[in-house]
Amino acid sequence: MEDLMEKIVSLAKRRGFVYPGSELYNGLGGTWDYGPLGVEMKNNIKKAWWKAFVQERDDVVGLDSAIVLNSKVWEASGHVSKFADPMVDCKKCKKRYRADHLAQELEKKKLPEKEEDILEEHNLNAHPEVIKDLNERLKGATCPACGGALTEVRQFNLMFKTFVGPVEDSSSVAYLRPETAQGIFINFNNVLDSSRKKIPFGIAQIGKAFRNEVTPGNFLFRSREFEQMEIEFFVKPGTDEKWFEYWRKTCLDWFLEHGIRKEKLRLRDHEKDELSHYAKAATDIEYDYPFGGFGELEGIANRTDFDLIQHSKFSGRDLSYFDEQTKEKFIPYVIEPSLGVDRAMLAFLIDAYQEEQVGENDVRVVLRFHPKVAPIKVAIFPLVKDEKLIKMARDLYRRYQSFWMIAYDEVTSIGRRYRRQDEIGTPYCLTVDFDTLEDNAVTVRDRDSMKQVRVKIEELDSYLMTKIC
Ligand code: GAP
Repeated sequence: MEDLMEKIVSLAKRRGFVYPGSELYNGLGGTWDYGPLGVEMKNNIKKAWWKAFVQERDDVVGLDSAIVLNSKVWEASGHVSKFADPMVDCKKCKKRYRADHLAQELEKKKLPEKEEDILEEHNLNAHPEVIKDLNERLKGATCPACGGALTEVRQFNLMFKTFVGPVEDSSSVAYLRPETAQGIFINFNNVLDSSRKKIPFGIAQIGKAFRNEVTPGNFLFRSREFEQMEIEFFVKPGTDEKWFEYWRKTCLDWFLEHGIRKEKLRLRDHEKDELSHYAKAATDIEYDYPFGGFGELEGIANRTDFDLIQHSKFSGRDLSYFDEQTKEKFIPYVIEPSLGVDRAMLAFLIDAYQEEQVGENDVRVVLRFHPKVAPIKVAIFPLVKDEKLIKMARDLYRRYQSFWMIAYDEVTSIGRRYRRQDEIGTPYCLTVDFDTLEDNAVTVRDRDSMKQVRVKIEELDSYLMTKIC
């Protein structure tokens, strides 16, 4: 299974989906750059999400808030005091470990039957008992790399710190946001006043988030700079459990509608001691990754009235809602679906990747993306390098370029060109051949079945639209 990840990471680099960040300078841990195909795919994921959760709904509006926020926001939200992972350092070689991962790793060596849980996310509960427990578990342990002594377990805040303006002192400290959610909460009144929305309604945001993860890894799964797609859905207290159920199902359905295999997804409810400091209930939509099995893809949390109360307290502004009909005033509860764009991209890549035996000595690598997710929707080829065929193919290319990202290729054999498109998940290839000059039709080849049909050029628009849109 690790082998599968190696193949996907290599394909992603070779074909221009994802490159290691700052590679020219030997890299920067936990960062990735998206290449020509990667940026298309990522945009498609964001577009599909926005369409389903904002455009096609009457009860969700969008927002794009700043990345650097007043540091009071993070004091109010609890991130300054609680958004931390436990870590230990080696006193000799200075290597840093996540204490819970290290304890688990060392215990696993002693107790081989203990299940590995490498996908465990940090929770936001910086409980002193957790630290005490980890210190006990790591008593006498030494650095696995050099055998050096370890420091005591300490909390390590995951937020990236910076300074706003020319003076670097405590009054100018600011943080890069570790979640897009807080930008939504602090704009609750603004959106309410300017959009005339009534509860229940949601505010959606897509944007970058930053976390100084102690152990980034597993390709796009855990990085230090990533994007989130989040909705804060404001509801009347008492209706929150119903809405929580609704969002669990709706979010799961979105993945199924975009082609992720049902058996690779599951819902997992958080245990009480796993819940973040703000949550009353939480469910993860998990994907069965090739590394470590089922792990978090998306989180859905019942954040209660925690955030709005905190921001009311810290800002001194009233963030309650007045219901015109019932004349009641209350602080809304919040249901939050939160999905990482990069993690969604990882799941789409893994889920789509297939190697198929075609003939005795031939293996076809194909990414079976849903057409909405595929970076290139259609590829257009002249069968051979003939001037007339090239002109017709180029005309078609120009025509469809205004609808979608499409490709044109006239290099190498037609079979090789099909395979190159299979490997990047292009759902349809159109070939202009000598018959086209007579019958005004092209061959349309389907990526998944590899079947070819002849379609009249005048019918191509509607043929492709129904399949791709
Ligand atoms: N606002 C709630 C929140 O941020 P989270 O579970 O910490 O909750 C939500 O993050 C989602 O963001 C995760 O389910 C995952 O998809 C994505 N995510 C979180 N940390 C990430 C990281 N370091 N790298 C990539 N994606 C991450």
